[in-house]
Amino acid sequence: MNNQSKEIFDLIEKEKIRQENTIELIASENFCSKAIRDACGSVLTNKYAEGYPQKRYYSGCEFVDDIEAIAIDSAKKLFKCDFANVQPHSGSNANIISYFSFLNSGDKILGLSLDCGGHLTHGFKLNFSGTNYEAFQYTTDQDGFLDYDQILKQAQEIKPKMIVCGASAYPRKIDFKKFREIADSCNAYLMADMAHIAGLVATDLHMSPIPFADVITSTTHKTLRGPRGGFILSNKENEEKINKAAFPGFQGGPLEHIIAGKAICFIEAMDLSFVEYQKQVLKNAKILEQELLNYGFDLVTGGTDNHLLLVDLRKKNISGKKAQTLLESVGVSVNKNSIPNDPKSAMVTSGIRIGTPAITTRGCKEEEMKIIAKYINAVLSNPEDLDLHNKIKQEIKELLKNFPTP
Ligand SMILES: Cc1ncc(COP(=O)(O)O)c(C=O)c1O
Repeated sequence: MNNQSKEIFDLIEKEKIRQENTIELIASENFCSKAIRDACGSVLTNKYAEGYPQKRYYSGCEFVDDIEAIAIDSAKKLFKCDFANVQPHSGSNANIISYFSFLNSGDKILGLSLDCGGHLTHGFKLNFSGTNYEAFQYTTDQDGFLDYDQILKQAQEIKPKMIVCGASAYPRKIDFKKFREIADSCNAYLMADMAHIAGLVATDLHMSPIPFADVITSTTHKTLRGPRGGFILSNKENEEKINKAAFPGFQGGPLEHIIAGKAICFIEAMDLSFVEYQKQVLKNAKILEQELLNYGFDLVTGGTDNHLLLVDLRKKNISGKKAQTLLESVGVSVNKNSIPNDPKSAMVTSGIRIGTPAITTRGCKEEEMKIIAKYINAVLSNPEDLDLHNKIKQEIKELLKNFPTP
């Protein structure tokens, strides 16, 4: 090992220790299994495989062909659909590829605005989705709920070619059937980005978008607990245009090491233990909801029925940015997040987003959620009390020793 790689491995070790000593509540993060990490760090990274199984532009693809075919079949089985493309390098790529498949530059799209919980790729003005397409945005109502009647009205006025549903920071269930009806009312395609809730969808704990959307995109690394990456689902009839849009349309060689990790992720998600895990993710979010409400925190929409909560900190007189920094200093990782009609900028915000997927993977249950809520309240209610913060930091380290990372 030369000095430079030693430096990198030292940093990786430090990151490992940081992860071990942190209560990870970032709603989009998780800990994938060792098997998935091994696949992602395997010799498959050496292999070029432009094209698709049995239709490659390079020799020596017999084994990666089998791996990618297993990933595709497992994704189709898990989500009960008849087409999957597992090549998108990320969730954003999956979204770009889906737009490329169904739209032309300049077409109208209608998606949830970033400050109401949407993703950058759903039409934000600084993102390709907002510059390459004529993007319109719907918002949530003043309590933070999707207002389907309002979205219907907007869709009929705008007549977008595609409606995008799905979110990055929405604590409630999404009614994909209603979105289908809205899309049908203006003859639009429906794209469902289930990145955040894929694990809940896979285990039937959240309505599946599969029967309703023309195209479904996702990441593998959030609730689904796989490697960092994306995938697309649809019907057989859209196979050719989506595959062409992914390669050669938008990407070059697929990341077969990550695809191997995705295959393991889909297979793991078919295990009964994964259903139990997702149920615990929901239970843990509910306990956090109750505890935080008891401590006097406001929650956007009043609570949660998925894996995340949006805490409105205005009443507590602390910004999302400050809360994030304070919590990080004791070993609790959350992210600052805008709340609907946030008076503060996106860099400061009035809220934080809290999610339970990662901490549940470590085995934390109801009792630990109560302790975590107590720490969050203690730190945010006593922002200047450094002695208290140090004490909590030590207690968190001790607590986490009982909950190893995979
Ligand atoms: C709903 C949604 N879609 C897409 C993405 C993008 O995924 P990636 O970061 O892998 O590009 C995210 C990421 O946070 C997301 O929340």
